[in-house]
Amino acid sequence: MSRTYVVTGSASGVGACVAGLLRERGDRVVGVDLRDAEVQADLSTDEGRERAVEEVLAATDGTVDAVVACAGISAPVPTTVAVNFFGVTRFLTGLLHALERSEAPRVAVVSSMATLQPVSEAIVDACLADDEDEALRVAATLAEQGPQVGYLAYPSSKRALSRWVRRECVTAAWAGRGIPLNAVAPGTVLTPMTTQLLSTPESVAMVDAAVPMPLNGHQSPESVASLLLWLTDAANTHVTGQTIYDDGGADAVLRGDDVWTGTVPSPAG
Ligand code: NAI
Repeated sequence: MSRTYVVTGSASGVGACVAGLLRERGDRVVGVDLRDAEVQADLSTDEGRERAVEEVLAATDGTVDAVVACAGISAPVPTTVAVNFFGVTRFLTGLLHALERSEAPRVAVVSSMATLQPVSEAIVDACLADDEDEALRVAATLAEQGPQVGYLAYPSSKRALSRWVRRECVTAAWAGRGIPLNAVAPGTVLTPMTTQLLSTPESVAMVDAAVPMPLNGHQSPESVASLLLWLTDAANTHVTGQTIYDDGGADAVLRGDDVWTGTVPSPAG
């Protein structure tokens, strides 16, 4: 049966790939992007997010089966936090009632293996406190110190997003409405976002040192899209709160085999 999907970032890269695969198999897609989309809106501002929600509701008659949130940027600027965190969380929250009207509502967002990189705890905390002004203020002070420090906006926005997914997924708003909520964390994906980054042997070596991908190397947008499609399919009834590292092994290389230490206290105390 055909489902109605909302795909952000649908004009390029992973989002375009997701939208294309969905349309090919007969699902209805409402794309949201700055340009070349059914809904043209800027997810970096509350005004843009609210307009995007309104236009999505109008285009779908108020029922949305799934949202795949791909829109994102990686520039060393505060807007990265606005798009990658608040442009996802506030947009999704605005669509909860429309998702509730579906028989099998599902949501997946695109995080990143960058969640494993150093972050600004102040940005992460402000994001999780839903304090956009403070998150952007801290990101601006970091950006003033140059692009290397300013880059912290990116891993911080993605770490906060993955933590938000984990925290929200079990609440009445999400689990209570029967909505699995997950994230996919890619490694290095061949899209316009990485074209320049991978343009010289030196920059490739730098990227590969930071993002080691022993399984099959750099990945196609399809390798991310197919997992996003499964997570948002009706077949996914119990996977929720996960950040799935779809990254050629980068997470396993960087964090090793024990990611369970100290997570659940013993019932014996
Ligand atoms: P891309 O640059 O090809 O596509 C991103 C899309 O988001 C573009 O169409 C752009 O117009 C849209 N967008 C940006 N700012 C927006 C705004 N303010 N409002 C609405 N739409 C906006 O990038 P790509 O690679 O497809 O990225 C998709 C997601 O994957 C992003 O969230 C990115 O952080 C994440 N990711 C990408 C990786 C890569 O290596 N390319 C690795 C890990 C994560």
